[in-house]
Amino acid sequence: MNMSRHVLTGKMPGQWAVFAFLCAASAAAPAVDWNGVEGRQVMLFFPGQASWEWALTQADHSGAKKFREGKNCRECHAEEEKDIGDKIASGKKLEPNPVAGKPGSVSVNVKTAHDGERLYVRLQWQEPARSQGAKMDPDFESKITMMLDDGSVSEAVRSGCWGACHDDAVGMASAAAGSELTKYLARSRTKVARSGGGENYKPAAELDQLLQQGVFMEFWQAKLNKGAAPLAVDGYILDQRHKNETPAIQAEGGMEGGAWTVTLSRKLSGAGPRHKDIVPGKTYSVGFALHSDHAEHRFHHISFEHTLAVDQGKADFVAVKK
Ligand code: HEC
Repeated sequence: MNMSRHVLTGKMPGQWAVFAFLCAASAAAPAVDWNGVEGRQVMLFFPGQASWEWALTQADHSGAKKFREGKNCRECHAEEEKDIGDKIASGKKLEPNPVAGKPGSVSVNVKTAHDGERLYVRLQWQEPARSQGAKMDPDFESKITMMLDDGSVSEAVRSGCWGACHDDAVGMASAAAGSELTKYLARSRTKVARSGGGENYKPAAELDQLLQQGVFMEFWQAKLNKGAAPLAVDGYILDQRHKNETPAIQAEGGMEGGAWTVTLSRKLSGAGPRHKDIVPGKTYSVGFALHSDHAEHRFHHISFEHTLAVDQGKADFVAVKK
Protein backbone atom coordinates (compact mmCIF):
# COMPACT_ATOMS: atom_id res chain seq x y z
CA MET A 1 0.00 0.00 0.00
CA ASN A 2 1.67 3.16 -1.12
CA MET A 3 -0.02 5.96 0.75
CA SER A 4 1.83 8.71 -1.04
CA ARG A 5 -0.03 7.78 -4.21
CA HIS A 6 -3.36 8.93 -2.79
CA VAL A 7 -2.33 12.48 -2.10
CA LEU A 8 -1.70 15.53 -4.15
CA THR A 9 0.84 14.83 -6.83
CA GLY A 10 2.54 18.16 -6.51
CA LYS A 11 2.48 18.61 -10.27
CA MET A 12 1.26 22.09 -10.94
CA PRO A 13 1.58 24.44 -13.84
CA GLY A 14 4.14 27.17 -13.18
CA GLN A 15 1.81 30.02 -12.20
CA TRP A 16 -0.06 27.81 -9.72
CA ALA A 17 3.15 26.62 -8.25
CA VAL A 18 4.20 30.21 -7.56
CA PHE A 19 0.76 30.99 -6.14
CA ALA A 20 0.90 27.97 -3.82
CA PHE A 21 4.38 28.90 -2.73
CA LEU A 22 3.27 32.42 -1.78
CA CYS A 23 0.20 31.12 0.05
CA ALA A 24 2.28 28.65 2.01
CA ALA A 25 4.69 31.39 2.95
CA SER A 26 1.97 33.79 4.09
CA ALA A 27 0.10 31.15 6.12
CA ALA A 28 3.26 30.18 7.92
CA ALA A 29 4.11 30.72 11.56
CA PRO A 30 6.44 33.67 12.26
CA ALA A 31 9.78 33.00 10.64
CA VAL A 32 12.76 32.18 12.81
CA ASP A 33 15.87 34.29 12.35
CA TRP A 34 18.28 31.48 11.61
CA ASN A 35 21.34 33.71 11.40
CA GLY A 36 22.08 33.43 15.10
CA VAL A 37 21.55 29.67 15.21
CA GLU A 38 24.52 27.39 14.86
CA GLY A 39 24.00 24.54 12.42
CA ARG A 40 25.45 21.10 12.39
CA GLN A 41 26.43 19.13 9.30
CA VAL A 42 24.86 15.69 9.38
CA MET A 43 26.22 13.18 6.92
CA LEU A 44 23.47 11.08 5.36
CA PHE A 45 24.69 7.94 3.62
CA PHE A 46 23.36 5.22 1.36
CA PRO A 47 22.51 2.17 3.54
CA GLY A 48 21.46 -0.42 0.94
CA GLN A 49 19.97 -3.45 2.66
CA ALA A 50 21.61 -2.89 6.05
CA SER A 51 18.57 -3.67 8.20
CA TRP A 52 18.09 -3.83 11.96
CA GLU A 53 18.39 -7.64 11.82
CA TRP A 54 21.53 -7.42 9.65
CA ALA A 55 23.12 -5.04 12.16
CA LEU A 56 22.32 -7.42 15.02
CA THR A 57 23.84 -10.49 13.35
CA GLN A 58 27.51 -11.00 14.13
CA ALA A 59 28.09 -13.21 11.07
CA ASP A 60 26.99 -10.31 8.87
CA HIS A 61 28.20 -7.31 10.84
CA SER A 62 31.18 -7.42 13.17
CA GLY A 63 29.74 -4.61 15.31
CA ALA A 64 26.73 -6.74 16.27
CA LYS A 65 28.00 -8.15 19.54
CA LYS A 66 29.19 -4.79 20.85
CA PHE A 67 25.96 -3.16 19.73
CA ARG A 68 23.96 -5.76 21.66
CA GLU A 69 26.20 -5.08 24.65
CA GLY A 70 25.31 -1.41 24.59
CA LYS A 71 27.51 0.49 22.15
CA ASN A 72 25.41 2.67 19.83
CA CYS A 73 25.92 2.78 16.05
CA ARG A 74 27.38 6.25 16.01
CA GLU A 75 29.87 5.47 18.77
CA CYS A 76 31.64 3.17 16.31
CA HIS A 77 30.78 4.81 13.02
CA ALA A 78 30.98 8.60 13.55
CA GLU A 79 32.94 10.19 10.68
CA GLU A 80 32.75 6.95 8.63
CA GLU A 81 29.46 7.77 6.94
CA LYS A 82 30.99 8.91 3.67
CA ASP A 83 33.16 5.78 3.29
CA ILE A 84 30.30 3.47 4.27
CA GLY A 85 27.96 5.18 1.80
CA ASP A 86 30.48 5.01 -1.05
CA LYS A 87 31.10 1.33 -0.43
CA ILE A 88 27.40 0.41 -0.35
CA ALA A 89 26.26 2.69 -3.21
CA SER A 90 28.96 1.18 -5.45
CA GLY A 91 27.46 -2.28 -4.90
CA LYS A 92 30.52 -3.70 -3.11
CA LYS A 93 28.39 -4.58 -0.13
CA LEU A 94 24.73 -4.68 0.95
CA GLU A 95 23.33 -3.39 -2.33
CA PRO A 96 22.50 -6.00 -5.00
CA ASN A 97 21.12 -3.40 -7.43
CA PRO A 98 23.42 -0.38 -7.37
CA VAL A 99 22.15 2.69 -9.21
CA ALA A 100 24.75 4.19 -11.53
CA GLY A 101 25.65 7.71 -10.50
CA LYS A 102 24.01 7.53 -7.09
CA PRO A 103 26.12 9.45 -4.58
CA GLY A 104 27.25 7.55 -1.50
CA SER A 105 26.43 10.40 0.84
CA VAL A 106 24.78 13.80 1.12
CA SER A 107 25.69 16.34 3.79
CA VAL A 108 22.72 18.15 5.32
CA ASN A 109 22.98 21.22 7.50
CA VAL A 110 20.51 21.03 10.37
CA LYS A 111 19.44 23.90 12.64
CA THR A 112 16.80 23.77 15.37
CA ALA A 113 14.95 26.45 17.32
CA HIS A 114 11.62 27.09 19.04
CA ASP A 115 9.47 30.14 19.72
CA GLY A 116 7.78 28.93 22.89
CA GLU A 117 5.04 27.35 20.87
CA ARG A 118 6.55 25.45 17.96
CA LEU A 119 9.72 23.45 17.34
CA TYR A 120 11.44 24.32 14.05
CA VAL A 121 13.92 22.10 12.27
CA ARG A 122 15.64 23.65 9.28
CA LEU A 123 17.35 21.36 6.80
CA GLN A 124 19.59 22.64 4.05
CA TRP A 125 21.44 20.64 1.42
CA GLN A 126 22.90 20.90 -2.03
CA GLU A 127 20.82 18.96 -4.55
CA PRO A 128 22.88 15.89 -5.52
CA ALA A 129 23.52 15.23 -9.22
CA ARG A 130 20.89 13.09 -10.95
CA SER A 131 21.73 9.42 -11.11
CA GLN A 132 21.12 7.26 -14.15
CA GLY A 133 18.41 5.34 -12.32
CA ALA A 134 14.71 5.23 -13.14
CA LYS A 135 12.30 7.63 -11.41
CA MET A 136 10.98 5.34 -8.68
CA ASP A 137 8.64 7.98 -7.28
CA PRO A 138 7.42 9.85 -10.34
CA ASP A 139 5.45 12.36 -8.26
CA PHE A 140 8.16 13.87 -6.10
CA GLU A 141 11.73 14.83 -6.89
CA SER A 142 12.78 14.67 -3.26
CA LYS A 143 11.50 13.85 0.20
CA ILE A 144 13.24 14.97 3.37
CA THR A 145 12.25 13.22 6.58
CA MET A 146 12.98 13.41 10.28
CA MET A 147 12.22 10.51 12.62
CA LEU A 148 11.60 11.44 16.23
CA ASP A 149 11.34 9.56 19.49
CA ASP A 150 11.23 10.68 23.12
CA GLY A 151 13.07 7.73 24.65
CA SER A 152 10.07 5.38 24.58
CA VAL A 153 11.66 3.31 21.81
CA SER A 154 15.07 2.11 22.96
CA GLU A 155 16.10 1.02 19.45
CA ALA A 156 15.59 4.58 18.26
CA VAL A 157 17.79 5.89 21.05
CA ARG A 158 20.47 3.34 20.17
CA SER A 159 20.32 3.48 16.40
CA GLY A 160 17.87 6.14 15.14
CA CYS A 161 16.04 5.06 11.99
CA TRP A 162 17.30 1.46 12.25
CA GLY A 163 14.75 0.89 14.99
CA ALA A 164 12.13 0.84 12.24
CA CYS A 165 14.08 -0.70 9.36
CA HIS A 166 13.56 -4.43 9.01
CA ASP A 167 14.90 -7.12 6.75
CA ASP A 168 11.49 -7.97 5.28
CA ALA A 169 10.36 -4.42 4.46
CA VAL A 170 9.77 -3.51 0.81
CA GLY A 171 13.00 -3.88 -1.16
CA MET A 172 14.99 -5.39 1.69
CA ALA A 173 16.87 -8.69 1.55
CA SER A 174 14.21 -10.91 3.15
CA ALA A 175 11.14 -9.24 1.60
CA ALA A 176 8.73 -11.81 0.18
CA ALA A 177 7.83 -11.19 -3.47
CA GLY A 178 5.05 -8.62 -3.53
CA SER A 179 5.44 -7.86 0.18
CA GLU A 180 4.31 -4.39 1.12
CA LEU A 181 5.60 -4.29 4.66
CA THR A 182 6.54 -0.76 5.60
CA LYS A 183 8.58 0.37 8.56
CA TYR A 184 7.61 -1.12 11.93
CA LEU A 185 8.91 -1.61 15.44
CA ALA A 186 10.03 -5.04 16.66
CA ARG A 187 7.74 -4.60 19.66
CA SER A 188 4.68 -4.73 17.41
CA ARG A 189 5.49 -8.36 16.62
CA THR A 190 5.17 -11.52 18.73
CA LYS A 191 8.39 -12.82 17.23
CA VAL A 192 11.23 -11.41 15.14
CA ALA A 193 13.73 -13.61 13.29
CA ARG A 194 16.83 -12.81 11.19
CA SER A 195 14.38 -12.26 8.33
CA GLY A 196 12.30 -9.75 10.34
CA GLY A 197 8.97 -9.89 12.13
CA GLY A 198 6.82 -10.62 9.10
CA GLU A 199 3.13 -10.72 9.82
CA ASN A 200 3.54 -11.86 13.43
CA TYR A 201 1.47 -8.94 14.65
CA LYS A 202 0.56 -8.61 18.31
CA PRO A 203 -3.20 -8.53 18.94
CA ALA A 204 -4.83 -5.18 18.24
CA ALA A 205 -5.49 -4.51 21.94
CA GLU A 206 -1.78 -4.89 22.73
CA LEU A 207 -0.78 -2.65 19.85
CA ASP A 208 -3.25 -0.07 21.06
CA GLN A 209 -1.77 -0.24 24.53
CA LEU A 210 1.72 0.34 23.13
CA LEU A 211 0.38 3.33 21.22
CA GLN A 212 -1.16 4.76 24.39
CA GLN A 213 2.17 4.27 26.16
CA GLY A 214 3.91 6.29 23.47
CA VAL A 215 5.80 3.34 22.02
CA PHE A 216 6.02 4.61 18.46
CA MET A 217 8.35 6.69 16.32
CA GLU A 218 7.05 9.85 14.74
CA PHE A 219 8.00 10.93 11.24
CA TRP A 220 7.91 14.43 9.79
CA GLN A 221 8.30 14.69 6.05
CA ALA A 222 8.30 17.28 3.29
CA LYS A 223 7.63 16.04 -0.23
CA LEU A 224 9.34 18.31 -2.69
CA ASN A 225 9.22 19.49 -6.25
CA LYS A 226 11.07 22.51 -7.52
CA GLY A 227 8.82 25.55 -7.82
CA ALA A 228 6.00 24.01 -5.76
CA ALA A 229 5.16 24.42 -2.09
CA PRO A 230 6.41 21.50 0.00
CA LEU A 231 3.77 18.95 0.89
CA ALA A 232 3.82 18.21 4.62
CA VAL A 233 3.23 14.62 5.71
CA ASP A 234 3.53 13.16 9.18
CA GLY A 235 2.60 10.05 11.02
CA TYR A 236 3.83 7.33 13.30
CA ILE A 237 5.44 3.95 13.11
CA LEU A 238 4.40 1.06 15.30
CA ASP A 239 3.00 -1.99 13.51
CA GLN A 240 3.41 -0.18 10.19
CA ARG A 241 3.86 3.29 8.83
CA HIS A 242 0.67 5.23 9.61
CA LYS A 243 0.15 8.54 7.85
CA ASN A 244 -1.99 11.12 9.65
CA GLU A 245 -4.99 12.33 7.67
CA THR A 246 -4.22 15.88 8.70
CA PRO A 247 -0.58 16.55 9.47
CA ALA A 248 0.31 18.41 12.64
CA ILE A 249 3.52 19.59 11.01
CA GLN A 250 4.09 22.41 8.57
CA ALA A 251 6.73 22.34 5.88
CA GLU A 252 8.06 25.46 4.23
CA GLY A 253 10.82 26.34 1.85
CA GLY A 254 12.10 25.40 -1.55
CA MET A 255 15.13 25.38 -3.77
CA GLU A 256 17.33 28.31 -4.59
CA GLY A 257 20.62 28.25 -6.44
CA GLY A 258 20.90 24.47 -6.36
CA ALA A 259 20.31 24.24 -2.61
CA TRP A 260 17.18 23.13 -0.82
CA THR A 261 16.15 24.88 2.38
CA VAL A 262 13.21 23.23 4.12
CA THR A 263 11.84 23.99 7.57
CA LEU A 264 9.67 21.46 9.35
CA SER A 265 7.78 22.62 12.42
CA ARG A 266 5.01 21.72 14.76
CA LYS A 267 3.59 22.61 18.15
CA LEU A 268 5.89 21.61 20.98
CA SER A 269 3.09 19.95 22.88
CA GLY A 270 -0.53 19.13 22.37
CA ALA A 271 -0.06 18.30 18.73
CA GLY A 272 -2.30 15.26 19.18
CA PRO A 273 -2.29 11.75 20.63
CA ARG A 274 0.00 10.35 17.98
CA HIS A 275 2.60 13.00 18.52
CA LYS A 276 5.17 13.25 21.31
CA ASP A 277 5.16 16.23 23.61
CA ILE A 278 8.42 18.09 23.19
CA VAL A 279 9.44 19.49 26.55
CA PRO A 280 12.59 20.90 28.17
CA GLY A 281 14.57 18.44 30.25
CA LYS A 282 14.04 15.44 28.01
CA THR A 283 16.39 14.05 25.38
CA TYR A 284 14.87 13.11 22.06
CA SER A 285 16.29 10.85 19.43
CA VAL A 286 16.24 12.05 15.83
CA GLY A 287 17.31 10.59 12.52
CA PHE A 288 17.23 12.13 9.06
CA ALA A 289 16.51 10.67 5.64
CA LEU A 290 16.65 12.11 2.15
CA HIS A 291 15.04 10.49 -0.86
CA SER A 292 16.54 12.60 -3.63
CA ASP A 293 16.39 11.96 -7.34
CA HIS A 294 12.83 10.49 -7.26
CA ALA A 295 13.98 7.70 -4.95
CA GLU A 296 11.71 5.35 -3.02
CA HIS A 297 12.14 2.94 -0.15
CA ARG A 298 15.72 1.89 0.64
CA PHE A 299 17.23 4.02 -2.12
CA HIS A 300 17.64 6.95 0.24
CA HIS A 301 20.39 8.48 2.31
CA ILE A 302 20.05 8.29 6.06
CA SER A 303 21.84 9.42 9.20
CA PHE A 304 22.89 7.55 12.27
CA GLU A 305 21.14 8.47 15.53
CA HIS A 306 21.33 12.05 16.83
CA THR A 307 19.94 13.70 19.95
CA LEU A 308 17.79 16.76 20.44
CA ALA A 309 16.93 18.75 23.56
CA VAL A 310 14.95 21.92 24.17
CA ASP A 311 16.46 25.00 25.88
CA GLN A 312 19.41 23.20 27.42
CA GLY A 313 20.97 19.80 27.73
CA LYS A 314 23.69 17.61 26.35
CA ALA A 315 22.52 16.87 22.83
CA ASP A 316 23.62 17.21 19.22
CA PHE A 317 20.88 19.79 18.76
CA VAL A 318 19.71 22.10 21.52
CA ALA A 319 16.72 24.07 20.27
CA VAL A 320 16.71 27.44 22.04
CA LYS A 321 14.06 30.13 21.96
CA LYS A 322 14.32 32.56 19.07
C1 HEC B 1 31.40 -1.97 18.12
C2 HEC B 1 31.41 -1.14 16.96
C3 HEC B 1 30.22 -1.13 16.06
C4 HEC B 1 28.92 -0.81 16.36
C5 HEC B 1 28.33 -0.48 17.70
C6 HEC B 1 28.22 -0.82 15.11
N1 HEC B 1 29.05 -1.17 14.08
FE1 HEC B 1 28.58 -1.21 12.13
N2 HEC B 1 30.41 -1.95 11.66
C7 HEC B 1 31.43 -2.14 12.57
C8 HEC B 1 32.56 -2.71 11.88
C9 HEC B 1 33.90 -3.10 12.51
C10 HEC B 1 32.20 -2.82 10.51
C11 HEC B 1 33.02 -3.31 9.32
C12 HEC B 1 33.03 -4.76 9.06
C13 HEC B 1 31.71 -5.50 9.09
O1 HEC B 1 30.78 -5.19 8.33
O2 HEC B 1 31.57 -6.46 9.86
C14 HEC B 1 30.85 -2.31 10.42
C15 HEC B 1 30.15 -2.22 9.25
C16 HEC B 1 28.93 -1.60 9.11
C17 HEC B 1 28.27 -1.33 7.86
C18 HEC B 1 28.77 -1.73 6.48
C19 HEC B 1 29.76 -0.78 5.91
C20 HEC B 1 31.15 -1.26 5.89
O3 HEC B 1 32.05 -0.39 5.83
O4 HEC B 1 31.43 -2.45 5.89
C21 HEC B 1 27.09 -0.71 8.16
C22 HEC B 1 26.05 -0.21 7.19
C23 HEC B 1 27.02 -0.62 9.59
N3 HEC B 1 28.15 -1.16 10.14
C24 HEC B 1 25.93 -0.11 10.25
C25 HEC B 1 25.82 -0.13 11.65
C26 HEC B 1 24.59 0.20 12.35
C27 HEC B 1 23.31 0.62 11.68
C28 HEC B 1 24.86 0.07 13.66
C29 HEC B 1 23.90 0.23 14.82
C30 HEC B 1 22.66 -0.52 14.74
C31 HEC B 1 26.23 -0.32 13.79
N4 HEC B 1 26.78 -0.45 12.55
C32 HEC B 1 26.88 -0.53 14.99
C33 HEC B 1 31.40 -1.81 13.91
C34 HEC B 1 30.29 -1.38 14.62
